[in-house]
Amino acid sequence: MQKSARGVARAVEDVFHKVYHNLKKLVRAFRVVSGSKTDRWSNRLSKKILVTGSAGFIGSALSIRLLERGDQVIGIDNHNDYYDPALKEARLARHADHPNYTHIRMNLEDREGMANLFKEQQFQGVVNLAAQAGVRYSLENPLAYIDTNLVGFGHILEGCRHNKVEHMVYASSSSVYGSNTKMPFSVHDNVNHPVSLYAATKKANELMAHTYSHLYNLPTTGLRFFTVYGPWDRPDMALQKFTRAILAGEKIQVFNCGKHRRDFTYIDDIVEGVIRILDRPAPPNPEWSGENPDSATSKAPWRIYNIGNNNPVELMDYIEALEEALETKANKELLPLQPGDVPDTYADVDDLVREFNYKPSMSANEGIQNFAKWYRKYHQL
Ligand SMILES: NC(=O)c1ccc[n+]([C@@H]2O[C@H](COP(=O)([O-])OP(=O)(O)OC[C@H]3O[C@@H](n4cnc5c(N)ncnc54)[C@H](O)[C@@H]3O)[C@@H](O)[C@H]2O)c1
Repeated sequence: MQKSARGVARAVEDVFHKVYHNLKKLVRAFRVVSGSKTDRWSNRLSKKILVTGSAGFIGSALSIRLLERGDQVIGIDNHNDYYDPALKEARLARHADHPNYTHIRMNLEDREGMANLFKEQQFQGVVNLAAQAGVRYSLENPLAYIDTNLVGFGHILEGCRHNKVEHMVYASSSSVYGSNTKMPFSVHDNVNHPVSLYAATKKANELMAHTYSHLYNLPTTGLRFFTVYGPWDRPDMALQKFTRAILAGEKIQVFNCGKHRRDFTYIDDIVEGVIRILDRPAPPNPEWSGENPDSATSKAPWRIYNIGNNNPVELMDYIEALEEALETKANKELLPLQPGDVPDTYADVDDLVREFNYKPSMSANEGIQNFAKWYRKYHQL
């Protein structure tokens, strides 16, 4: 009796095995016929992914990688002029014509448009990278942060909730660590003391996502990025500002005589981390206890990770690598530590390494060389 039950089970298993393998063959054949690349992950089915902010620095790089491995990508971006929209167009030109890419110009704040998009497309995965970024600009134009980062983020959550998205991944930021000085910054420490509205909106995103994970069982993962740089990066960030000044022979101000140590994270490392995490919907933590609440996990399917290099570089070494890459000496004005500035900030990435067997690895020298090569080519210098 027992033997025959085992026999039936084996036969059923065999049938499933055959169906699974034939399905895989079919998908691969379809990819070839439809002209899309067969990806190196040939044992996974391609997915339909929404990438918001797909004309942005990280969103465009992520879209390219998802397309390369055979996913279908729907990208949305409003192409706003926080910095030169021509750079957004140029980034987009790299992947806009891919047969598996669709671009939609849309505001996250467009409630009806977003609801319709989610309903029509039935995404399996969502990566929300569209945001009003930048710490300093949040002092000038706080309402832009409320509109995109809070109202827009709410629309993403609603879309995911009503359409049973398998995993929603979103960009948080190292700036949520605010007044914390304990190093390295750990996702297990509390981050209740933001020092800019930008940081407060990112922390709010983590809290909003938790309620959706808890109430609607929506798997969500928040990623705290640490200073991302590389080819196609943002002109409002230090690396491009330094580069412009160095090439124009202008003075650059170097606080704390360049002795700050910071985690600079290369774009390809960030994209690799986002993809690994996207592929594994956030699981609940069965050991989570309300008696001693861990701030990076939950009983709900909700997770928070740092993605940073965990190999802080002294600002002066970073500037020297840039001088070498640009073959031009910087005119440096050495200044003392500014009040309120923290000498060292870097990420604890133990959870990322343990759970995803992955750690950002690009060296500052090589990353900056790649950036400088791109910068000269893009600006025809
Ligand atoms: N680059 C970094 O060092 C860094 C560090 C920490 C966190 N982050 C976060 O990562 C994400 C991506 O950053 P990035 O550096 O690629 O920035 P980015 O500004 O290059 O990209 C964001 C994109 O979103 C679009 N966008 C902005 N508001 C929108 C709206 N309301 N509707 C639709 N599109 C909108 C912009 O046009 C832009 O193309 C952001 O959430 C940012 O806060 C970035």
